[in-house]
Amino acid sequence: MSTTASVETRPEVRQTQCFIGGKWIPAASGKMFPTMHPATEEVVAQVAEGDADDVDLAVEVAREALEHGPWATMDARERGELLFRLADLIEQENDELAALETLDNGKPIRDARTGDIPLVVDCLRYYAGFADKIHGQTIPVRGNYFTYTRREPVGVVGQIIPWNFPALMVAWKWGPALAAGCTVVMKPAEQTPLSCLRMARLAQKAGFPDGVINVVPGYGPTAGAAIVRHPGIDKIAFTGEMSTAQLIMREAATTLKRLTFELGGKSPNVVFADADLEQAAHGAHLGLYFNQGQCCCAGSRLFVQEEVHDELIERLAAMNHTRKVGNPFDIETEQGPQIDQAQMDKILHYIDLGLQEGASCVTGGGRVGEQGYFVEPTLFSGVTDEMTIAKEEIFGPVLSVLKFKDEREIVERANATHFGLAAAVWTRDIGKAHRIAAKVRAGTVWVNCYDIFDAAAPFGGFKMSGMGRELGEAGLQAYTETKTVTVALA
Ligand code: NAI
Ligand code: MG
Repeated sequence: MSTTASVETRPEVRQTQCFIGGKWIPAASGKMFPTMHPATEEVVAQVAEGDADDVDLAVEVAREALEHGPWATMDARERGELLFRLADLIEQENDELAALETLDNGKPIRDARTGDIPLVVDCLRYYAGFADKIHGQTIPVRGNYFTYTRREPVGVVGQIIPWNFPALMVAWKWGPALAAGCTVVMKPAEQTPLSCLRMARLAQKAGFPDGVINVVPGYGPTAGAAIVRHPGIDKIAFTGEMSTAQLIMREAATTLKRLTFELGGKSPNVVFADADLEQAAHGAHLGLYFNQGQCCCAGSRLFVQEEVHDELIERLAAMNHTRKVGNPFDIETEQGPQIDQAQMDKILHYIDLGLQEGASCVTGGGRVGEQGYFVEPTLFSGVTDEMTIAKEEIFGPVLSVLKFKDEREIVERANATHFGLAAAVWTRDIGKAHRIAAKVRAGTVWVNCYDIFDAAAPFGGFKMSGMGRELGEAGLQAYTETKTVTVALA
């Protein structure tokens, strides 16, 4: 492999309008909003700013497609074939889509190219294979009756997604919805609409009938809220902030929409003294700093058993000192900018709070440069459970290290949070690993690894980290309604 840094060229932005009923159309209001490249703060495109009128139109065509179009009578296997075709088209455009993701989100090109987009393809293929395997049951009821269940599409689904994995979140949402036979009105995050719009274009090329997939770019309180309120939408799938989910839940009460939420976390990552420290250090580093720390499952509370505490801190600090932070289009770059000014300011504020409340800053602690939203990989030691940085989601490259003594205390401390998305434990003692895995209140537990995702493995939150599950067979549940049919045999 060459060690010369190569800087990739930027992609062309081709889709910037609303995608409704198979047509590319400006927002009804004629408004546009800018989307930026977070590494340079330059505007890369003006995008149609959808609002309630555009959502109304999208819901109308999505309803029509659900009930009357070719989608309504298409057999399940053919739906699967369309998903396979979409996955193929995305795979063919892997590098271009990855570059679009880097342009809009700022993530390192090598992550987008070898991580995000291949995972999109894998997820769509996984659900493509499920389309014709969504089975009902035959049920032995009392009396001379034949009872069976049908799993029907829940209907028109509103899907509202965040900016941290823009393309991957599209796949997590479209995959199960389309496999189940639903139609979709999606609102991508206002920071990152471009890859979603490109994927809509590829879905059109793949042959999805008009109206099955609709994309209304725009802001949360306008376009997003209109989706949540709309009586023609049967279900909302949302990924984002807890407080937004609370708003959505209140608004959705009027129409009793089905809801699934994938929210944030303050995930405990527990390293015992008997762990392979080399592996644990790498896992802890990846678990927090990956994707600029902008991960819902970030292992942001690193609990380290006191015997190995200092050594682990040294290893983490060494990795931060050599971490390549900079131009995300440079193939060597490991860490790009944060998504926007607001997120960078929020992260820097948490760093100040960490210092004020008495944590020690081992590495980083500030912004990098003056252009772009870069934050130094920051490592705090001496963090205690009561500190703000140990309680609140920072969503940036800030790792808090907390010490612990023994297994007895750690479960309680790990669980002392209203979140419950993920957790990890590092140990060579298999019994201890399973004991902790069973006791931690979190939707995902990793043992001697971190951030291992698979399209087949359910993901979601306990407690205030979410409702329902995505991925795996579990991810289909919320996209179907079960209908019971009973037939008199006499
Ligand atoms: P957010 O929850 O405001 O945005 C997520 C999506 O919801 C976006 O598409 C947004 O336009 C939409 N939205 C916002 N308000 C809405 C409303 N009233 N009705 C309907 N849709 C609405 O999250 P934001 O502001 O981008 O990030 C804030 C914090 O949230 C982050 O610092 C992080 O802590 C957390 N977050 C968690 C994510 C996760 O993966 N669980 C992803 C993004 C953010
Ligand atoms: Mg917000």
